[in-house]
Formats: sequence, structure tokens, C-alpha cells
Amino acid sequence: MSRLFLVTGGAGFIGSHLTEALLARGDKVRILDDLSTGKRDNIPGNAELIVGDVADDRAVARAMAGADGCFHLAAIASVERGNRDWLGTNRANLVGTIAVLDAARRAKPNAAAKVVYASSAATYGDNDALPLSETAETRPLSAYGADKLASELHARVATVVHGVPTAGCRFFNVYGPRQDPKSPYSGVISIFFDRTLLNGKVTVLGDGLQTRDFVYVGDVVRALIAAMDRDGGKHPVFNVCTGRATSVLDLAHGIAKACGVPAVIEHGPARAGDVRASLGDPSRARDALGFEAVTTLDEGLAKTRASF
Ligand code: NAD
Ligand code: UD1
Repeated sequence: MSRLFLVTGGAGFIGSHLTEALLARGDKVRILDDLSTGKRDNIPGNAELIVGDVADDRAVARAMAGADGCFHLAAIASVERGNRDWLGTNRANLVGTIAVLDAARRAKPNAAAKVVYASSAATYGDNDALPLSETAETRPLSAYGADKLASELHARVATVVHGVPTAGCRFFNVYGPRQDPKSPYSGVISIFFDRTLLNGKVTVLGDGLQTRDFVYVGDVVRALIAAMDRDGGKHPVFNVCTGRATSVLDLAHGIAKACGVPAVIEHGPARAGDVRASLGDPSRARDALGFEAVTTLDEGLAKTRASF
């Protein structure tokens, strides 16, 4: 039987891929998005769009009506923006989460709709005990990371106090087609493709030996759907990562290879507060959800290249 899912942030990078996957398996999708970074063009024609603010309780209640579950991805997904506009981003990133959880508990007369929501590796902050498992200490270093951690706490309250099933996905560095390269806060992979194809060179910030756990968007979508479909415990959080670390320098070479050009690398000053090494432990999601990120970096880069 086809089900109806609310996808907040469905016009964005990850949300639009999720929407496609849900529609492809025969589900119906309703999107709530304010189109601040998301685009109408990202949304398949057979998805319903409500343009509205996720922190507006009436808009969220309207969007949640009749939904069998909600994927909550709407957020201002920029660490820098959160540090600059602390209060403004809190409204989208934490008040928005509470509005979604509150609407979910009121959604149906007898059964609350399940909420699967996007958290972030930013919750770990400067914890460098790699690989990071979900039991590692959370030490956010940004308003963005703090709001994601607080979202997890409110999800716990939603489950324990209000009976709303929830699951949080701590995404590591997500990449793939439709990640917007034009903002200065875009993911490094979309920036490197854009610059390589535009002028044949990229800027590595610092020595390039900093590492990240880059996870392909198609795998992230499978993790979200598994978190919705399978019982993973009471109010679990899952790392969504590969368990493989790649240096930014190796990444620059991989992207040049995917574009069929020699790597031309400039070095710029390291970002203040840049995390030196990030790597997730994927075992909880594997054991509880049967989820594994199967796309290799080379495969993911080839798919991303094809979209430019
Ligand atoms: P994105 O900017 O492409 O998508 C976010 C979507 O939310 C956009 O469509 C935007 O218009 C919408 N939105 C923002 N504020 C809103 C509001 N107040 N009301 C309604 N809609 C609003 O970013 P993304 O990379 O697709 O991120 C999706 C989720 O994943 C976010 O919660 C983000 O914090 C999280 N995340 C992303 C990454 C990553 O590497 N991309 C890593 C960790 C966590
Ligand atoms: C990313 C997320 C952030 C999330 C965090 C948690 C993005 C845009 N940011 O931050 O939302 O909270 O993970 O794990 O997805 N770099 C260059 N040259 C460039 C751009 C970046 O060398 O032109 C370097 C950066 O200095 C950094 C690395 O590439 O060392 C990754 O940068 P970025 O893609 O912005 O992601 P994070 O900083 O890890």
C-alpha cells in the first residue's frame, strides 16, 4: 500500500534525492520547504510542494496532516551562517525540529507519525577519538552543531514523553549531484568539481592532509529510508558514514582524474577551527538497520561528475 511521507527540506540537495527514491518505490511525497536554499527545479512533478517555514507551527501541521511519517531535513545547513546569525538559524534548526515533533504527536488520533531527522557529525565537534561511534562524547563547536544535538534531545523527549517514534541520522560529509557549488559554504566536492571544470585548478585550504568521511547521497537516502522502515530501538541516533577517511589532497587528485585533467592545486590559508580529522564508525547502522554505504569514492565522484 502506498504511503504518504512529509519531507521537510525536500527541495534541497539531500531531500530531493530522498523524494525521488520514495516516489520511485510508489510512495507519495509532500514537501515543506521555504526555498531559501532549495529549488523548485529539484522537485519531481509528482511531489506536492507546500512553500512555508518549518518553524511555523500552522504550516507544519498542515503539511503533516495525513502523513504516515516525516523525514525532517529542513535546516540552514551552514556552520558559518549559524555562527553569524545565531538566533536566526536556531529558529530553523531547533525550533523547526520541535515544530515537526509537536505536529507528529498530533498527526493522527491514535498513532503519532514517525520522524526521521537529519543530525550531523558536527555534534561531535572537537572530539578526535576516531573512529567516532555514537557513544562518543558530543562536543559541538558551533551553533549549528549545538542545535543538531539539541534536536536529538528533543527527539528523545518526543519519544519518551509523547510516544512519537524517532530516529536521528548523523550525516558525515555528504556529496553528490545537485549539491550547490556556488555558495562559499558548499561542500568541498561540489566546489572542487566546479573549479576544476571552470578553470582547471582548485584551492586546498591548509596542507590538505585533513581528512573527512565522504558519503554519497544515494547511500544517505538508503539510510534514511531504512531508519524509517526498520525498528532501530527507542529513539536511536545513527552515524551515516562510510568508515573510510580521505584526505582533501587525495580528493583533489580524485576529482581531477574524474574530470580527465591533470590536478592543479593551489594552497590557501587553513580555515580557522577546521576539523583536522573526521571519521565515523558505521557499525551501529549496519547492525540495527542493515545499512552499509556501498558507493566507493571513485564511483560517487564519477556520478557527481556526470551531473555537472
Ligand atoms: P540544503 O540546503 O540543500 O537543504 C536544506 C533545505 O531546507 C533547503 O531546501 C532549504 O530551502 C530548506 N530550508 C531551510 N530553512 C528552512 C525553513 N526555515 N523552513 C523550510 N525549509 C527550510 O542542505 P542539505 O545538504 O540537503 O541538508 C539537508 C539536511 O542534512 C540538513 O538538516 C543539514 O543540516 C543536514 N546535514 C547535511 C550535511 C551535508 O554534508 N550536506 C551534513 C550533515 C547534516
Ligand atoms: C561539513 C559540513 C557541515 C557539517 C560538518 C560535520 C558542508 C558544506 N559542511 O563541514 O555542515 O556540520 O561537515 O562533519 O557539507 N576545503 C578546501 N577547499 C575548499 C573548500 C573546503 O580545502 O575550497 C577543505 C576544508 O578546509 C575542510 C574540507 O575541505 O578541511 C571539508 O570542507 P567542507 O566540505 O566545507 O566540510 P566540513 O568543514 O567538514
